[in-house]
Amino acid sequence: MKNYVSASILSADMLNLESEIKKLEQNSIDMVHFDVMDGVFVDNITYGLPILKSIRKITDMCLDVHLMIINPLKYIEGFADFGADIITFHIESESDVMQTINAIHKKGIKAALAIKPMTPAEKVYEYLPYLDMVLVMTVEPGFGGQKFIESTVEKIEKLKAKIKELGLDTDIQVDGGIDDKTSVIVKNAGANVLVSGSYLFKSENMKNAAMMMREDKCSIK
Ligand code: DX5
Ligand code: ZN
Repeated sequence: MKNYVSASILSADMLNLESEIKKLEQNSIDMVHFDVMDGVFVDNITYGLPILKSIRKITDMCLDVHLMIINPLKYIEGFADFGADIITFHIESESDVMQTINAIHKKGIKAALAIKPMTPAEKVYEYLPYLDMVLVMTVEPGFGGQKFIESTVEKIEKLKAKIKELGLDTDIQVDGGIDDKTSVIVKNAGANVLVSGSYLFKSENMKNAAMMMREDKCSIK
């Protein structure tokens, strides 16, 4: 499966968001990862609908919206209308999972379900046939710049095996502490959509940093 890099703009310069998005385009980044936090589902508050709408106006990039909010179902229509191409919501939220997946698909965009580091992989099995992507959080959601949690690797492997067993081609996304080193570990486990904030935005050469993440280093062994 093709590997993709999704840049989390949580680490971008908010006062210069337009030039930061242009930088992602110029450096062949595949997607813009847009973290929405409500201060209830997680202990942080970020940005929401008006900012997404403004970003949509200045780019054709794939907008990968990660909802860390208590009631995602209520906001699906808004985020879809304002330009999301993928909407990811959490299984630990209060919205009904199937209803939320259906609401996303009804808007003609991709649906993904996220699990926090302590949530077992098995919880998403029943939803796999209806999902375009599963997000395995590799840190506790809420903040950028945290350390990758190793115990999530086994969950990625389990999910990958289940997806294969079911004959599906569901993407597996990872988010949190992903850099040139941890990306090798998660790709070996079966992940192919790599979210990165601090590593990408702090890198001196973003294009090279993304290439390091995408390439399958193990294939040259
Ligand atoms: C954390 C967010 C992530 C975060 C990743 O809750 O969902 O998208 O921005 O940042 P890094 O790559 O710095 O761990
Ligand atoms: Zn995220």
